[in-house]
Amino acid sequence: MKPLFFLFLISLTTIHGLENEFLGCFQNIPKTGSIYVSQVRILDNCAKYCFRNYYWYLNFYNDNCTCSNFLGEQISNVTCDTHCLKNQCSKDVAFKNTYRTGNIVPGPPRGFQIFNITSNNCRLLWKKPESYVKIDGYKITAVIVQTFSSYPPNLLEWWFGNTTFQTELSDLLPATKYNISIAALYENMPGAQIYQIIITRLGDPENLPAQPKILSDDGDKIRIKIFPVVNNNGPVTSYRVVVVKTDDNQGFQKQNVFPYAEAQKQNLSYYIAAELSPQDINQEFTVGDGKYYDTYFNAPLNPDSNYKVIVGLVSNFSGETKSVYSNASGYHNGISILNVYEEEGDSPGVIIGLSIAIALLSLLLIIGVIGFVILKSKIIKRRQRLSENQELTIQGPMIEVENNGYIHDEEHIPAIAHYRNLKQKVRTIPYSQIKVEPANLLGVGKFGKINTGTLHDNGNMTTVTCYTIHDKRMNQETKKGMLQELDILIKIGKHNNIVNLIGTSETRDVVVVVLELNQINLKDFLLGSRDNLSSKFCTMTEAQALEIAIGICRGMTHLHSHNVIHKQLCARNVLISNNLTPKLSGFGLAQYFSHNKIPDYTRWTALETFKNHPPNIKTDVWSFACVLWEILAIGGTPYGNIANNNDIPEHLNKGMRLSQLRYVGDNLYQIMLDCWQLIADERPKFDDLVQSLENLIDNPMAIIDFKIYSSFQYEQFYPNMELSVRPVF
Ligand SMILES: *[C@@H]1O[C@H](CO)[C@@H](O)[C@H](O)[C@H]1NC(C)=O
Ligand SMILES: *[C@@H]1O[C@H](CO)[C@@H](O)[C@H](O)[C@H]1NC(C)=O
Ligand SMILES: *[C@@H]1O[C@H](CO)[C@@H](O)[C@H](O)[C@H]1NC(C)=O
Ligand SMILES: *[C@@H]1O[C@H](CO)[C@@H](O)[C@H](O)[C@H]1NC(C)=O
Ligand SMILES: *[C@@H]1O[C@H](CO)[C@@H](O)[C@H](O)[C@H]1NC(C)=O
Ligand SMILES: *[C@@H]1O[C@H](CO)[C@@H](O)[C@H](O)[C@H]1NC(C)=O
Ligand SMILES: *[C@@H]1O[C@H](CO)[C@@H](O)[C@H](O)[C@H]1NC(C)=O
Ligand SMILES: *[C@@H]1O[C@H](CO)[C@@H](O)[C@H](O)[C@H]1NC(C)=O
Repeated sequence: MKPLFFLFLISLTTIHGLENEFLGCFQNIPKTGSIYVSQVRILDNCAKYCFRNYYWYLNFYNDNCTCSNFLGEQISNVTCDTHCLKNQCSKDVAFKNTYRTGNIVPGPPRGFQIFNITSNNCRLLWKKPESYVKIDGYKITAVIVQTFSSYPPNLLEWWFGNTTFQTELSDLLPATKYNISIAALYENMPGAQIYQIIITRLGDPENLPAQPKILSDDGDKIRIKIFPVVNNNGPVTSYRVVVVKTDDNQGFQKQNVFPYAEAQKQNLSYYIAAELSPQDINQEFTVGDGKYYDTYFNAPLNPDSNYKVIVGLVSNFSGETKSVYSNASGYHNGISILNVYEEEGDSPGVIIGLSIAIALLSLLLIIGVIGFVILKSKIIKRRQRLSENQELTIQGPMIEVENNGYIHDEEHIPAIAHYRNLKQKVRTIPYSQIKVEPANLLGVGKFGKINTGTLHDNGNMTTVTCYTIHDKRMNQETKKGMLQELDILIKIGKHNNIVNLIGTSETRDVVVVVLELNQINLKDFLLGSRDNLSSKFCTMTEAQALEIAIGICRGMTHLHSHNVIHKQLCARNVLISNNLTPKLSGFGLAQYFSHNKIPDYTRWTALETFKNHPPNIKTDVWSFACVLWEILAIGGTPYGNIANNNDIPEHLNKGMRLSQLRYVGDNLYQIMLDCWQLIADERPKFDDLVQSLENLIDNPMAIIDFKIYSSFQYEQFYPNMELSVRPVF
């Protein structure tokens, strides 16, 4: 438990070099952010000093050097001497010749300290830099310098507001050397960095060693084979061979295991026979050969006793030692009792006796062996299942996430890996900066609840959508699904017409996926804009209706350009921001519904999808035209005259399409009909649709007119036809 040493260094580089540009003669230089450098009497040195200490300006007069970050009042653009000569001013006025040093970034944060380093955690403290004009926040970066882990080296970055001066970094790899640096930010520009090298502490070995394989038992000697173990949590220092004499029925205690002589002294029936380096385990090892292995005596075995052999993995790092042990492999009366490597063909020695009694005994034993093998294979299967589950913890090793149905261009998308990789591509938000509002539930998604929350960031508070995922409780399949959907959101990146992923945040138990918050969906927005009191039947203008449709097309173009198919495009899956910008939602992780109300997508589904064609970009186009109809129908239900969803495919097959509303012009309706072409290839693409719709926007009234006419009636809205009432996920 010796404290770890660390180096402590400042990097003294800035983006710009020393400039030393003369600005003029100034007075009343603000005291804040300025220092008088008593030891410097030469202009050149003053410039160097102020620049190296990250000051913006230097003031020099009467061989007196001051560094400052703010300019005072300019008296003139020439030197004070010249100015004073001209004006006969006295020298005691605090005039100063002022120069720009060329530095434009904040200095390094002061008092940077790293405490309480564990195997995957550490605590950071820092203070404001000495010199700065303004600090917008702090950025912390952790770079792996050296590790035992075979996981891809990752760069971890964290951002904090300008009022945060401590944090905890979690999710670090054990026994890993990190270069952790911090810089103050000024207008998104990191200032001077200060860094520390830390080494996280040794973690418990990741895997238990496999049981040693017993090759033969010659009574006083047992030949075994040891299998290598992978450990990402620290080094594999040595393999320990532990011999347990089973006759005494003494339990093996791993914290109480000694070399032979010491074990004898303590009356323990188990001892360390040898410690082998990883290179030496390739050969077989003979337990009981009577030799010394370093200080360990591999004592001869008593042919009249029964023994088991256990393999331990010893991991030594930076003064710490951790060890784990395999299950025991052993023999009982010459019959292997725990030989799990039966399938490799090494059958255990079977005693062939002359007497019938011995033959019967052998038979019984063989039955026992078979029974055991069956039992064991079940145990192995269970163990495999167990280890798969373990691998799927967020901190666990690599898992492959296959492409899912959203991705249509399968050859070109490499299988993405593991949350750790995904995480590098998103902003990691410290959990302390997020407050989830448990009382304000927005809905339920496949993987957890979605609430509103607040993100505290650079002193700003933003309301956001928080998707809380209890990842530890998930089984493997669910977790894969979750990672796939998160990957979709990450892959898409930011777009103005897509609900944007802000970042993720995690604690030991949960992952919070933070999304942009838009409280209202297009369906509710449309229904809410129904208003027949004035001369128009809707508060949304014709131009706004078109803009929303164009925005959706832009978002869809972006999705498709990232090989993501939406599959569930409908007004409910489009959110509307305060300034009426549509934001696509309902794909990837951005999919959630309020309790027990799941959209039934039948009325938005392309005809061929009913015939088991997989969804593709052209089925999304079909759905879009249905959404356009919904917009024009101010939230009406598509095919409201057909009550039963099951009848829709048949009608579509016969050529029926959503009707032309009386107030919608032919050229707009033609665009919609194009999207409902029977032959998918004849439907336009989204970028074509953006073009066609933009051509209409100059004169929207010519193609849509929301003015009330005598026989006007709203298209009916039937919630039950659009929703399937079943438990959410
Ligand atoms: C240098 O400046 C300080 C403060 O402005 C002043 O007190 C001091 O007298 C100055 N020294 C010289 C040598 O002018
Ligand atoms: C200084 O200011 C004067 C008048 O304000 C101007 O004519 C002159 O060009 C300026 N000189 C410099 C070097 O900026
Ligand atoms: C480090 O841990 C100890 C014990 O848990 C605690 O008392 C101390 O405050 C921690 N140090 C910091 C800087 O958090
Ligand atoms: C911290 O940020 C706030 C808001 O941007 C700003 O008003 C304040 O001056 C900043 N603090 C520092 C020390 O720069
Ligand atoms: C640590 O990182 C900083 C900033 O990235 C870099 O300047 C410095 O050289 C690194 N130190 C070591 C020892 O790698
Ligand atoms: C050693 O232990 C065995 C049983 O575990 C016991 O019979 C024997 O008396 C013990 N001997 C000593 C010296 O403690
Ligand atoms: C591992 O560390 C322990 C003490 O912590 C020491 O006794 C042992 O010799 C070390 N083993 C190796 C192989 O360095
Ligand atoms: C060791 O044996 C126990 C019980 O016999 C079993 O539950 C466990 O899975 C085994 N572990 C290994 C690594 O073989």
